[in-house]
Formats: sequence, C-alpha cells, structure tokens
Amino acid sequence: MTCRFRCGDACFHEVPNTSANEYVGDVIAGALSRRSMMRAAAVVTVATAAGTAANVVGGAESAEAATGAAHHPHHSPTHHSVPRGLRFSPVAPNNTDAVVTADGYGQNVVIRWGEPILRGAPAFDSENQTAAAQAGQFGYNNDFLALLPLQGKQHLLVANHEYTDEILMFRGYDPANPTREQVEVAWAAHGLSAVVVEGDRRTGELTPVLRHPLNRRVTATTEFRLTGPAAGSDLLKTSTDPTGRKVLGTLNNCSGGTTPWGTTLHGEENFNQYFANASRPTDKRYGIGTGATERKWERFDKRFDVAQEPNEVHRFGYVVEFDPYDPSSTPRKHTALGRFKHEAATIRMTSDGRPVVYTGDDERFDYFYKFVSSKRMRHGDSRAVKEHNLTLLDEGTLYVAKLTGDSPAIEIDGSGKLPSDGEFDGSGTWIPLATATAQGAVSHVEGMTAEEVLVFTRLAGDKVGATKMDRPEDIEPNPATGKVYVVLTNNSNRGKAGLAPADEANPRNSNKHGHILELTEQRNCAESTSFAWSLFLVAGDPKDPATYFAGFPKDDVSPISCPDNVAFDHHGNLWISTDGNQLGSHDGLFGVATKGARRGELKQFLTVPTGAETCGPVIGKRQVLVAVQHPGEIDGASVEKPASTWPDGPGKIVRPAVVAVWRTDGRDIGV
Ligand code: FEO
Ligand code: CA
Ligand code: CA
Ligand code: CA
Repeated sequence: MTCRFRCGDACFHEVPNTSANEYVGDVIAGALSRRSMMRAAAVVTVATAAGTAANVVGGAESAEAATGAAHHPHHSPTHHSVPRGLRFSPVAPNNTDAVVTADGYGQNVVIRWGEPILRGAPAFDSENQTAAAQAGQFGYNNDFLALLPLQGKQHLLVANHEYTDEILMFRGYDPANPTREQVEVAWAAHGLSAVVVEGDRRTGELTPVLRHPLNRRVTATTEFRLTGPAAGSDLLKTSTDPTGRKVLGTLNNCSGGTTPWGTTLHGEENFNQYFANASRPTDKRYGIGTGATERKWERFDKRFDVAQEPNEVHRFGYVVEFDPYDPSSTPRKHTALGRFKHEAATIRMTSDGRPVVYTGDDERFDYFYKFVSSKRMRHGDSRAVKEHNLTLLDEGTLYVAKLTGDSPAIEIDGSGKLPSDGEFDGSGTWIPLATATAQGAVSHVEGMTAEEVLVFTRLAGDKVGATKMDRPEDIEPNPATGKVYVVLTNNSNRGKAGLAPADEANPRNSNKHGHILELTEQRNCAESTSFAWSLFLVAGDPKDPATYFAGFPKDDVSPISCPDNVAFDHHGNLWISTDGNQLGSHDGLFGVATKGARRGELKQFLTVPTGAETCGPVIGKRQVLVAVQHPGEIDGASVEKPASTWPDGPGKIVRPAVVAVWRTDGRDIGV
C-alpha cells in the first residue's frame, strides 16, 4: 500500500538508471587521499542570521576543525559523560500504536489532518469531506516541518503534505473509479500548510492558532512561478501556459529546508506517479508510467496525461521556495537546482555569504547534488532585500557528486565487512552541470543545452559519470562542525544482476537498512569541487556484523533501519528519523553525537504508531516536533478495516498529525 500511494511502486518499477556509469569501486584511490584532504580541510560554519528558523541552529558551539572531530577509534563510554542533548534512556523497539517516548517526556498532538486552519473552513467531518473544506484545512501526510520564529510565544509551523492515501481517507473508496470530489479533495490535501502555533511556557506543548491571518494552504492547484534559467523554455510551455513560467500546484513535497533569509524550501519528490501515458525516453528515466496512474487524476485534468499535455510533467520535480511570512506571496520553483526526485534542500552559507544548497535524488542508483549560488544574501527587512534574497537560488552552479573509495575494490565484498584500513571512506568531486547567470545559463555537459541539463538533470548526471547511490534522502550540514550528512535510506537492488555492485560508498549488496555518509568540504565550500567522505553509520541490528556506528561499541547502541530525515539540535547532535524499519519494530527518531568520545552512540528517542514513518524532526530546546506520516498504512487496511486508530483511538479515523514532545519537568530536551 505504501508502495502504491507514496512512490508509485518505485521499488517494483524497473530501476530507471540504466546508464553505464562507473561505480566507486572502478577507481581505486583517486588523486586525493582522504587523509591528506582531511588535513587540508577546515570548517566553514554556517552563517546565522536573526530570524533564522528554529531548526537551523547556529552559534551554539564554536567551529571545530574537521581534523579534530573526525575519529576517536578508542571509545570508552564509561569514562565520558553522555553529551548534552542526548541524556535520556533509549526507547526499546516496539509495535505500539502510539507515539512512545523516552521516560520523563510528555507529548501533545499539535495538529491533525483536516483541522480547519483558514477562516471559513469547516470542522473536519471524515464522512463528508469536500474539496472546499480540505482547501482550508491541514493537509494529509505531513512530512517536512519547519518552526519559524514569530513574536512572543508564537511560531509559524510550515508542513509539507507529501501525498494522499485515498483508501484510508474515504469510506468505500473504489480505486478503479474515484469520484471527481475525491480527486479534488486529494488535490487540496497535497501541498503545504503554514499554521501559527503557540507555546506553553511551562511544558513545551504547542497548540495551533486556528484562523490566524498568517495561516495558509498551498495545494496542487495553487499558482507557482517557475524561475531560473529554464523558466520560459519551450520544454516548460503547455497549452494553458504558453509562457512556460506559471504552473499550478506542487506535488509530493517530501522533505525540505529553511533558509537564513526566512523562507522554506520543499523538495518535489515522487512526482512521476501522478502522470499517465508517458512514452519518451526522458520520461522513462524519471520513472513516469506508460499507462494509467493509481489515482486516475488524468481522467479529471488532462494535464496529468502526458500523451495530451507532454510538457506539464516537466514542471514538477523542482525545489520549491515558499515565503511563509507573506501569505500573498507566489511560491517559486527553482529550475537552477535541477529537476529530479528532490528529497530535500538544505543550506549552508559560504564565508562570503552565498548559499550552498544540498539536495538528493531519492531513487535507487541515483545521485546527490549541490548548488552554489553566485549571489550574496542581504540582511534586513525591506521589500528590496526580500526580493533580492528570493533570487539567490536563480544564479549559480549546479554540481553532481562523484565518489572514489580509498580501499582496493577487492576488499569491498558487498557484505558490509570493513576494508583493511578500517573505514569505508575516500574522496569525491563535485562535477559542474550548468551555471546560471542573469544573462542565461551555460551547460557543462557535452551534447546537452543548459535548459536540457536543468529539466533532464538525471540524464546530465548519467553523462558525466556521477556516482550511483543507495537512495539519497535528506542531506544536512552540521551547523556546529560544517560536515555534511548524506542519508542513504536503502537499496535492496544493490548488487543484483545487471545493476551496480557494492562499492565503498554503498558497501552492502541488497542494502535493506541503509547508511549515512559524512562529507567534509574543503575550506571554502563555495569554490570547493572536492571533498572527503566516510561512512558515519551503517544501519541495522547492532548484532549484525555488517553494521557500523562510527566505531562506537555496538552493545551500547539502538537498532536502526532505513534512515530518512535528519536534523541537528543546538548541541550539534544528529537526530535521525526512519521510514520503513526492516527489523520488525515501528519507525522512530534517534539521536547520536557526531563528535567527542561518544560519537556514534545512537539512542532511540521515540517510536511512532503502526504503519507510520517518522518525519520532519525539529529538535528545539524545549520540544521535539515530529510529523507522523501515513499512520495505518498497512497492506489490506482501509477506513472500514483500520490498522491504526491513532491519534484519537478506537472508532475514530486514523489521521496523520504533528506531535510535540517535551520534558514533563519543564527542562530542556536531553540535558
Ligand atoms: Fe518521501 Fe524519499 O521520502
Ligand atoms: Ca577505506
Ligand atoms: Ca523522506
Ligand atoms: Ca523515505
């Protein structure tokens, strides 16, 4: 069921990347050895600005030289105290249909699918849901969350609504014959929400301020502006938009990021599943189906039928920028960051104030990227400053990552066994794909125009020999150390006949549990086109010899499977949420130190209800926010036969919702 609704059976369709790219193991030890790079590397701390979002934490700890933070092979946990932020007793793996937290923590549901957030929106009535009601209510399947500052106790919560589970939304849903109303409810349940929330001074509890003037819904039919060098290109023109600059809606917004200039970024991920009847090779590379879609939207709007409206599908698969502080603003889709299944988009600033955006393509054997802007961020609240900052992601260079291992290929046997140097590690290069300027764009890929590179970015990555990864999900720079964490969620096809075998950066065949790569950029991250990398975590049951927790003793860590979204707390600890646990327990949220003697000591903080994935973690001082996405999404479940009744209990329809978790004694998280 997850497969059908979330990603359009991504794991069942053919692997879309059939390019003959070399893989990491083809090249033993590149020109740069990792250790020499590590010595050269220093850290650029993330720039912080007043008004930076609460989950973009800055300035809490001084910058630390990458060399010093890298490795502590001889852990002795008993002689070092647990790092601040991680002082809690881990939650045991479980299958409880609830959010189960570490002892001493309380929780509240902040907002559920269907709660009315706009003026005039009616109360939720699951038996009589309408598209008009849904357009003013909190959407379905919350994923990415951002908590942005307002005045006093108030914050602005921004949430992605990745996709809809019609069979859990509508009683008697007939997948072969959805009604127009059901389809329009689904359009309105996709997109984004902005909701003002208010904090309780004593507990960290958050409650929504319904009908606040800043509250907003963006849906699959809201007007967007295409910006950047591909905007206006023939590839983006349709019968209803001959300008190629105006598109309706955003789809499958998975994870995202916050910018230091007060906006949010949202990755359009599995957009392929909404489009029917494709036949071009470019569509095939994006996994767009040749027949009808699961949801049958093409019956109700021809733009979802590629045979009738061939370019509409080229207008999805971008990084969206949203200004939640201006409810009248038109959100943008940035073509300069390329088109693929963007999981997220996270920012680190160069030392001279330009944003660098990291973004991964969540597909088995696809790539990860960075975009380096050529424009400096300006500070201030004036209209002109705001307008300038909204163009930062329109000019700059898009790169794709190529990784080389430093151990002999023969030592990477696909079992997850560490090579003789004791680490999965190596060096990498950022290969330029296109540079966007105010005058237009230049392609760096032979045989492709800049517009083609930006609209068919996967094909550009194929041509330049980017490294095929095990499904890049979230990528997050650590504000305390500058290191960048690339989450590879899983790839059960790694090593299968005809597909890329294990390599040092993706060292397990049939990789069910995923891993996390730690990347160290050279001193000036903007100009840096080379980096060092090592695997920080190889996930699974710690009893499994093929797991690795940054060298920390495995008796002392929690089992983890399928890492997905990540976030940092203000202490510099990494928090990891999971999607699709393959160890028999529910998904959850984990915290782990990335430096110091207890680097790698992973601890589970909470688990989520039956069928749910844990999303959007925001790790604040006073509360942890998680988006409980697709609770009850189990094969065979329906409204009539629910697998979960979270959050409201028996007799009530299951509802995706955002949860706040806080210390019952009123103290800060994990101290
Ligand atoms: Fe929507 Fe890659 O998870
Ligand atoms: Ca190695
Ligand atoms: Ca995800
Ligand atoms: Ca996922």
